[in-house]
Amino acid sequence: MQQYIDSAVEQFKALLTEQIARQQEMERNNEVTDYQKLDKIIIGICSGDGIGPIISKESERILNYILKDEIAAGKVELRTIEGLTIENRIAKNKAIPDDVLAEIKACNVILKAPTTTLKGGTLESANVAMRRELDLYANVRPVQVPEQNIDWTFYRENTEGEYVLGSKGIDIPDTLAFDFKVTTNAGTRRICRAAFEFARKNGKTNVAIVTKANIMKKTDGKFSQIAHEIAAEYPEITAEEWYIDIMTANLVNENIRSKFQVFVMPNLYGDIITDEAAQIQGGVGTAGSANIGDKYAMFEPIHGTAPRLIEAGRGDFANPTSMFKATEMMLRHIGFTDKADKLSKALTICTETEKKIVVDDSEQSATCSEFGQYVMDTIEKM
Ligand code: IPM
Ligand code: MG
Repeated sequence: MQQYIDSAVEQFKALLTEQIARQQEMERNNEVTDYQKLDKIIIGICSGDGIGPIISKESERILNYILKDEIAAGKVELRTIEGLTIENRIAKNKAIPDDVLAEIKACNVILKAPTTTLKGGTLESANVAMRRELDLYANVRPVQVPEQNIDWTFYRENTEGEYVLGSKGIDIPDTLAFDFKVTTNAGTRRICRAAFEFARKNGKTNVAIVTKANIMKKTDGKFSQIAHEIAAEYPEITAEEWYIDIMTANLVNENIRSKFQVFVMPNLYGDIITDEAAQIQGGVGTAGSANIGDKYAMFEPIHGTAPRLIEAGRGDFANPTSMFKATEMMLRHIGFTDKADKLSKALTICTETEKKIVVDDSEQSATCSEFGQYVMDTIEKM
């Protein structure tokens, strides 16, 4: 046992040193991309695993159409990035193989389909690795149900918390397991600032700070304290603190849920509550997600690779809506507001008002590419 304890202490020392260095790096790092100033915007497309290649093909088709003038003029390049597959990642024993990461870093922005995340083992999630490597600290997830007056934007901290050392825990066989949660001052400040800036710029009057600071006293305690410090700089916005458990209840409480506007929270709570919120919107297949950093940004559906759908031989019936939402958010982020609006309008027509072609769990479901064609046709008619 003593040797386990000694090696755990050594490991903890190394992790602490590494995390302190990360916090210091964050204080220094301020390279910011201004997409308007780039001669050419390189959009990297990673098609992922499972239903990933099926839904990502549809987004690529739409991008090729919607950006055809910019692509022809050399102002935009769509670059396919191969190799972010579970087979290649296992073969190289790397969350993101080095050559793939280098290709990703040579792009300005990434559109990513879902990739397989293995349970257990030591191979880290590709999402988590990409969020860390590109320092994508804000995971922004909008959820809207207009007929119920729901218009929520979640700001999930995306580079630390329960995730940053999620594959570096300690296991003493037949005895216990230990994971770590890390909350830094700089990491908390930047996510809280992003949420309050968004609120201010978009005329929102309410930000909910969501923690479990009554139990996670050190990490969430810090998150809570810093969130309130930042909130004080935005006197026009009401900042309310809620614990994550009651907030999950609030989202299904029809009497109060529509009063919430913006949420800011540590990583894992954001992971969980945004699936709940997406379900209220119509399912995780309907929600897109933006992973924003200062230099890079990555856009993806909020769901996984849908292995059950693939195993049932129904991959072609995957719903690409979440991928289209991610595409729309990407277009908006890199400055193509009109094109993003166009795609957004087409999606509203196809999924809410007209609904001529529907992808769902039923036997009558249209295929992914039929729905993709429907969205394309709708855009063409605009
Ligand atoms: C998400 C996903 C990822 C996460 C998985 C696939 C690693 O659930 O983007 O919400 O846990 O962050
Ligand atoms: Mg999730």
